[in-house]
Amino acid sequence: MNLRGKRILVTGAAGGIGRLVCLRLAGQGAELLLADRPGDALDTLLGELGGQAVALPTNLLEDGAGERLAADAQATGQIDVVINLAGIMSFRLFQNESADNLQRMWQVNVIAPMQLTRALLPAMVARGSGRIVNIGSIFGSIAFACFTTYSANKFAVRGFSEALRRELEGSGVDVTYIAPRYTKTPINAGAAARMSEALKMNMDEPDVVAANILRAIEKDAKDYYIGFPECLFVRINAILPRLVDGVMRKQNAQIREFARNE
Ligand SMILES: NC(=O)c1ccc[n+]([C@@H]2O[C@H](COP(=O)([O-])OP(=O)(O)OC[C@H]3O[C@@H](n4cnc5c(N)ncnc54)[C@H](OP(=O)(O)O)[C@@H]3O)[C@@H](O)[C@H]2O)c1
Repeated sequence: MNLRGKRILVTGAAGGIGRLVCLRLAGQGAELLLADRPGDALDTLLGELGGQAVALPTNLLEDGAGERLAADAQATGQIDVVINLAGIMSFRLFQNESADNLQRMWQVNVIAPMQLTRALLPAMVARGSGRIVNIGSIFGSIAFACFTTYSANKFAVRGFSEALRRELEGSGVDVTYIAPRYTKTPINAGAAARMSEALKMNMDEPDVVAANILRAIEKDAKDYYIGFPECLFVRINAILPRLVDGVMRKQNAQIREFARNE
């Protein structure tokens, strides 16, 4: 897909990866609709883009936020692409996950992007063009200890992407699923960051991930995994999960120690 002139709605636009995706998209001549929580980060991004974008302050935790965002975005004109980037993470023993946080995680990471997509689809299908871009994670293919809710959310995003792509076949609307590995952004604060450092996990700079997200969209990719050897482990885990259980056994104990007090 040539991004020039495309009207692209981005959630999590002012986040660690989102901001850099937006700056790169603007550099390619896309017209941006920036959705994020109201606040300084969104205002700053709008300023960085020289006001050449529309800000749509949105809290995805609110009931019906996805549908409202779709309506607000469509009120400004046609939406060619939506990038479902907003996300939250949780690193703790699952038995310590609060009921409220469980709900928040599903709302922001899964329900809101599904609601938003559902509300945008009729116009895309009627037109016969459009692209849904869902940001998953390597954890959406390899579930990690103490990232239980987050892994379950990202598995859901991957399942949503695959099913919807099959459903939309021949419609002119396509779905791109992109799975980054650990990226140095605020989502990984605190114990999750300390644990990842201690385990010497591979880490990407957010701008590398942003560049890959644009590449995936420009290539009309179906599924796009960022990072080697993680993309290989995804395939091994799909075929031989017990082998991966064994490889992860030792680090699970370390991960549990970092997560215990969260
Ligand atoms: N960083 C990684 O290691 C990594 C790896 C794989 C996949 N990902 C995925 O990449 C995406 C972007 O993450 P990131 O690393 O850029 O994290 P980030 O810097 O924390 O950005 C996430 C963005 O989502 C926004 N958001 C959170 N809750 C929201 C809500 N209720 N309503 C509206 N917006 C909300 C955040 O706003 P606030 O700042 O106001 O909270 C923030 O702008 C996420 O889907 C994440 O799961 C990240």
